[in-house]
Amino acid sequence: MTREHWGSKLGFVLAAAGSAIGLGNIWKFPYVAGANGGAAFVLVYVLCVIVLGVPIMIAELVIGRHTESDPVGAFKLMFGRSGWVVIGYLGVVCGFLILSFYSVVGGWTIGYIVKSVSGGMSSLTNVETAKNAFAQFIHNPYEMIAYHFLFMAACAFIVIRGVKNGIEWWSKVLMPLLFILLLVLIVKGVSMKGGMAGVSFFLNPDFSKLTVDAVLSALGQSFFSLSLGMGAMITYGSYLSRKERILQSAMYIVLLDTLVAILAGLAIFPAVFAMEMAPDKGPGLVFHVIPAVFANMPYGQVFAVVFFGLLFIAALTSGISLLEVVVAWAGDERGWSRTKAVLILGGAIFAMGVPSALSFNVLEGNTVFFGKTFFDFIDALTSNYMLPIGGFFIAVALGWKYGLDKTIHELDPDTRIISLKELWAFTIKFVSPLLVALVFIVNFLGR
Ligand code: PFF
Repeated sequence: MTREHWGSKLGFVLAAAGSAIGLGNIWKFPYVAGANGGAAFVLVYVLCVIVLGVPIMIAELVIGRHTESDPVGAFKLMFGRSGWVVIGYLGVVCGFLILSFYSVVGGWTIGYIVKSVSGGMSSLTNVETAKNAFAQFIHNPYEMIAYHFLFMAACAFIVIRGVKNGIEWWSKVLMPLLFILLLVLIVKGVSMKGGMAGVSFFLNPDFSKLTVDAVLSALGQSFFSLSLGMGAMITYGSYLSRKERILQSAMYIVLLDTLVAILAGLAIFPAVFAMEMAPDKGPGLVFHVIPAVFANMPYGQVFAVVFFGLLFIAALTSGISLLEVVVAWAGDERGWSRTKAVLILGGAIFAMGVPSALSFNVLEGNTVFFGKTFFDFIDALTSNYMLPIGGFFIAVALGWKYGLDKTIHELDPDTRIISLKELWAFTIKFVSPLLVALVFIVNFLGR
């Protein structure tokens, strides 16, 4: 069977950007930045994106197109049956685990769309009531599981249709919509009274807040946000035709992702400060502050639908990429049909997510996992450890073991900036692995 390919370059870039841009940008980035001192964190984050994100993004796309395979198959093709294949498996497992809790939050966005449409949000005029409403919402185990199920079903619906007619088609419709909605919200946010204090919190660094933990979080966040370290970009790269330029595409994807993270900060923090709320309130941040902002404004209900619609779209295009990694593995390595893989593995991921959905109600306060709830544990395990470790080994595998000489031709052949290739080769061999290792070592010594 010939491998399916993306229909166009734009389609590929939007699908990959759709994978990168997600809850990580709009829901997670603002609260992680808020909890870690704002602008100082943003600075370290952007640094991680430039020195680690870009080279590893290129590396994953190169591996994907070179092998035309899922992450496990890619490592098998490059290294035969050796220990290196473990990195591929680690990636597939990581995709499975991330989607299990990601889908729970994706479900919250569906719940909030329903609430906004039904007018249930207009009474949440201050942060206190909005906070209580959110607490009540996540305290209901049945609702949590039902919305988690709906989100997984939406991902499954798209992934079953395949790469071109499913993932690419939907990304091409949804991503431009996301940009427009975000711009509308920023204009609204910065024009609010007191909103500028939020902009300055987000853009003026206070380095005293920059702990070792904050640096590790920035590292983890950059991998998570760019969908790196688990082979999502290997998988998307495997559907990329030979004529597309990887360097250029990678730049677009990283730029778009970083732009949306910054724009999301610019949309959220002015609102946080205008509502006189502390910026470090954790996972509930956007669910507390945004409804309160909208309840106080004309046509607020419409804006609320727009915002949570935006969050849902962002989550959906990322969710499908997570599912695609696992489905591509089952198809390539196990010979399963797409439909069979989506139904069985999607079902298994749903089941795995149930304890995460229950972490806010039935299992609340149950912190047997290193002092964390199941949800927080899976989140920290994957984002802060599995992804950076995966990224480290991807860089080492390509830069040291497989050899760049065999893959450098995958990079834009007619690029006029030859030194860009060399810069990438140097970074992927030395800078990226060393930096990830350094952050881990400092982190362990610091404990
Ligand atoms: N990049 C997505 C986000 O920022 O929400 C999350 C994600 C998708 C992580 C795909 C990893 C991945 F492979």
